[in-house]
Amino acid sequence: MDLKVTIGKTTFENPVWAASGTFGNGDEFQDFLNIGEMGAVVTKTVTLRKKKGNPPPRLVETPSGLLNSIGLENKGIRCFKKEDLPWLKRSGTRAIVSIAGETKEEFVKCAEELTGRHRPDAIELNISCPNVSHRGGKHCLFSQDPVITERIVSAVRRSTGTTLIVKLSPNVTDIGIIAEAAQNGGADAVSLVNTYFGMAVDAEEMRPCLGNVTGGLSGPAIRPMALKAVRDAYNSVSIPVIGVGGIMTGTDVAGFMLCGASAVQAGTVNLVEPAAYKRILREFIAYLKRKKINRAGDLVGKLRI
Ligand SMILES: Cc1cc2nc3c(=O)[nH]c(=O)nc-3n(C[C@H](O)[C@H](O)[C@H](O)COP(=O)(O)O)c2cc1C
Repeated sequence: MDLKVTIGKTTFENPVWAASGTFGNGDEFQDFLNIGEMGAVVTKTVTLRKKKGNPPPRLVETPSGLLNSIGLENKGIRCFKKEDLPWLKRSGTRAIVSIAGETKEEFVKCAEELTGRHRPDAIELNISCPNVSHRGGKHCLFSQDPVITERIVSAVRRSTGTTLIVKLSPNVTDIGIIAEAAQNGGADAVSLVNTYFGMAVDAEEMRPCLGNVTGGLSGPAIRPMALKAVRDAYNSVSIPVIGVGGIMTGTDVAGFMLCGASAVQAGTVNLVEPAAYKRILREFIAYLKRKKINRAGDLVGKLRI
């Protein structure tokens, strides 16, 4: 069975990956999984300088979903390079480092840090985190604006030859336009979706459940919307689309690929079931066998919708 997928200059052994922010930097999951057998691990987003994140509570369960408002807490890229990246690179999986910044220059500086022996297999540009603000405005994301999206992607593209994936927000009117802007900027692929804006209220206590009031919704609750976003992006660009949002099973992986995803990332499921990755990949392979499909890539966009 051929499960390989190539994005930019990087070939991945299989199309099922772990999503940013839900899998630590890989090492936390060693007791549950053989990390080397994973298609890829996308690290927690790192920024130029260390970030404290948002006030607690930062997680609340909702019907079929999870709301989070972590706010990109991380130790900063230099510390990450020293303490986490070497292990992930040695583990045998493909290391995708997720980076974010408050300005275009910060994105470029982060990408420039990831060179030489610190070069990952790919960089994922997180221009879509719902839990941080820029330009002084809350809920104002770089990836809500096609001009800013193209500008950031092309600046990073000029600064690195590493495979570049751009992660998009679903909190837009037409995700196809944003995907096109990322493609015009020189992205090798787009990944979508990041979380949907949301909030939960504790009516008894008459207060919001999250310390930051609003957060990002993930998990099975968002899967139907994420599938549509993947289909819309697939119909708008010629670069690969990576599907993210509510994946719980191997048949969910197939569903995203049928809608146009070349690879997928599973997120929230890792928090509920730490060994989920192994099961999802096994189920996906069983699906392919059941359907007598020898190349996973043959599924991509097969729905033609
Ligand atoms: C607790 C938590 C933290 C997350 N942190 C990040 C992050 O640092 N960077 C990022 O790009 N996405 C982050 N995400 C979004 C996920 O990578 C993914 O896009 C989203 O959760 C949808 O997929 P899922 O429904 O499978 O979780 C986070 C999601 C959760 C639940």
